[in-house]
Amino acid sequence: MKLNSKSAPSRLPSTPLLVVLVKEGQRPQLPKGVDVPRGFLTGFAGDRRTQASTWAVKGPAQRVLLVGLGPAADVDAEELRRAAATAVLHAKDQKLAKGVLWISSKGSVLKGDSRLAGCSLAEGLLMGNYQYTGGKGKAPKEVCKAFALLGGDAAFRRGVRRGTHLAAANLYTRDLQNGAGNQVTPRVLAAEARKLAKRSARITAKIIDEKEMKRMGMGLLLSVSQGSSEPAYLIHLTYKPKIKKAKGRVCFVGKGLTFDAGGISIKPSAKMDEMRYDMSGGAAVLGAFHALGDLDVAHEVHGLVPASENLINGVATKPGDIHTAMNGKTVEVLNTDAEGRLILADALCYAEKKVKPDTIIDLATLTGAVIVGLGHEHSAIYPSTTKLRDELLAAGEAVGEACWPMPLIDLHRDAMQGASADLANLSSPAVGGGSITGAGFLSHFVSADTEWSHMDIAGTAWNTAARGWVGGAQGSGVGARLLVDYLERRK
Ligand code: BES
Ligand code: MN
Ligand code: ZN
Repeated sequence: MKLNSKSAPSRLPSTPLLVVLVKEGQRPQLPKGVDVPRGFLTGFAGDRRTQASTWAVKGPAQRVLLVGLGPAADVDAEELRRAAATAVLHAKDQKLAKGVLWISSKGSVLKGDSRLAGCSLAEGLLMGNYQYTGGKGKAPKEVCKAFALLGGDAAFRRGVRRGTHLAAANLYTRDLQNGAGNQVTPRVLAAEARKLAKRSARITAKIIDEKEMKRMGMGLLLSVSQGSSEPAYLIHLTYKPKIKKAKGRVCFVGKGLTFDAGGISIKPSAKMDEMRYDMSGGAAVLGAFHALGDLDVAHEVHGLVPASENLINGVATKPGDIHTAMNGKTVEVLNTDAEGRLILADALCYAEKKVKPDTIIDLATLTGAVIVGLGHEHSAIYPSTTKLRDELLAAGEAVGEACWPMPLIDLHRDAMQGASADLANLSSPAVGGGSITGAGFLSHFVSADTEWSHMDIAGTAWNTAARGWVGGAQGSGVGARLLVDYLERRK
């Protein structure tokens, strides 16, 4: 869908659909010349998440849709994203090829922050219109092809620009997630990384193959990949900012497990197809670089995606096998289904040794346990500093991808000690806290003086609640926008 943003013209151009946002208790402000049936405007109170539509009596718009925002004091970015998504979903539902979202009174729709208003409305329109078509023989045609955001000031339009790029990054991430396991393989993720580097002069891609992994001693990543015929890759993307001295060096690490059958510790058949989403952390990191190519972020940013399948063949890792990580630590693989932590461990070692960042954030669909604990609306975060905790919480809130801080104490780190190796990839069930001990395992591969957070996105990467612009039985694109927002607010 094409998104257009202009200051309000004196006369509304002719359109099949005019959408107007209405705050509770305020009279809807229609552009001049639009005439609607008597009582339509007075009958609409602007209650939160309500809507009303009508044919226009005369004027440039054929139909008019009113969307309620609720009390003015409570309107926030999420409310606007949802309202804009309501607009585009209505257009789609009515099979309309285009529409206009009319912003009255100079973008004061979000009090004091017209840039954020523009951003959120653009996001809601573009993300609300998303449809995954990659699996169909003949891709169904896009119904709603264009929307115009008319009104607002210069800051509003700067916000629209930012929102357009953030939405594009989210949709790119979702497309990667939604692709089937045989369509989005480690090879495909590596090809995507190269494309991202081609898109922007500030981004470079280095693809590390299995031969080089062996040379560097990445025994854990290789131990997962050895059960599959598809070669594994460690993707390393680098973004260099325009300014001479970058604000800081940040490294994102995303689990790129393109299909998780569990290995020899095989998963049950029910819902195993969902394990095509097990690369969602990697997709989020690639998505963040999609946005980095379009925006002007002041940090040096590295993106690492260990990409592999977790399958079964005659040489697959067996429960009890011992493998050695890049940092020399040995791990007994008690359960081959706890593979995410293995491929991430070598990527974290690589980050520490080769990238030496100030901050590491890793994202992974790491555990089913996090869904038991937090459900589908919060990503678990394990920040090592209160600064990083506050920044991630604020970023998650801002982009509508909520995070929840989790405890990680020495007991959980110690629970990952091995009997016959330095570490085990599974803790005793008596310890409990499956998502926490996953983080505890990873902590053994991050230096104590690197600011770090693990983020368990197994609950939020797909199957989230419907919110108009996101949700349902498909990928959510979680993480991509959050990481960019985090970079922009990082101190
Ligand atoms: N990819 C899964 C985690 C997962 C499970 C995500 C269900 C979303 C839904 C991960 O590789 C895994 O299998 N984790 C195991 C870890 C356990 C063996 C310690 C799990 O959660 O069962
Ligand atoms: Mn697994
Ligand atoms: Zn997995």
